[in-house]
Amino acid sequence: MIYLNGEFVAYQDAKISAFDRGCLFGDGVYEVIPVYSRRPFRLAEHVTRLEASLAAIGLDNPHPADEWIRLIEAVIAQQTFDDQSVYLHVTRGAAGYRDFPFPQPTQPTVLIFSTELVTPDAAQKAAGVRALSHADFRWLRCDIKSLNLLPTVLMREHARRAGCTEVVLFRDGWLSEGAASNIFVVKDGVVLAPPKSQLMLPGITYDLVLELCVAHGVAHAVRPIAEPEVREADELWMTSSTKEILPIVELDGQAVGAGRPGPLAAQLDTLYQDFKARIMRQGLQS
Ligand code: PDD
Repeated sequence: MIYLNGEFVAYQDAKISAFDRGCLFGDGVYEVIPVYSRRPFRLAEHVTRLEASLAAIGLDNPHPADEWIRLIEAVIAQQTFDDQSVYLHVTRGAAGYRDFPFPQPTQPTVLIFSTELVTPDAAQKAAGVRALSHADFRWLRCDIKSLNLLPTVLMREHARRAGCTEVVLFRDGWLSEGAASNIFVVKDGVVLAPPKSQLMLPGITYDLVLELCVAHGVAHAVRPIAEPEVREADELWMTSSTKEILPIVELDGQAVGAGRPGPLAAQLDTLYQDFKARIMRQGLQS
């Protein structure tokens, strides 16, 4: 079942207008929320980021936070899997014609569905993944979780063809993020992360990794990271709701550090998994 504009419908019956501005212009925003044991992870934070994305594109939020939470929980309840990945998007609706300015009035399209959550398994974490680098040719508002994902589609396909999982993006010689993840660097025992700005998505996983560093006394710094520092890193990780903390062991065919996942990736992954298990056991939605 899929939630579409106030109704739960079988996915084969879910119909969106050909004039939907999500189809025509990518005019909308989205969220991906991991669900463990039927509990959405950091739901309040995902809803807050959704609200920020909607505000940034000037689209009135169709639901207050408590209603979003109720809808998301209803979608989760309909699904058979315990661990899920909830996808939701809001577009500026279908005006019945194609023109760029906002339609007056606007009737947004709200779509929510959930699929099985597949996170990296122990073997994948132990092996790590390969990545390519690329110039960050996206726009200047990458803090908005926008439906305009053509650059991501092209970069991830470029990676796939090269047997890689992610693309590490540099803008003017500085690390921004991954095509669909945030990137952390480890050098000399210090975890480094680029500061939030309009050039990267403020990741929910990124926040949690930094919170865990603070809580457990892991040396870390949030500061701009130059491209050579990435290429000379001891460890490189990608983080996202679906990949969690995944070590990158090869960048552009060159080994990262020793060419295998490093000790800080293992430490942070243990802390992350413990946190997840504790939150789920206690039934908190933090
Ligand atoms: N992507 N940066 C980009 C560009 C992303 O697309 C994502 C997530 C992240 C990590 O954010 P979070 O930790 O909140 O998942 C960073 C999702 C998973 C996607 O588009 O499928």
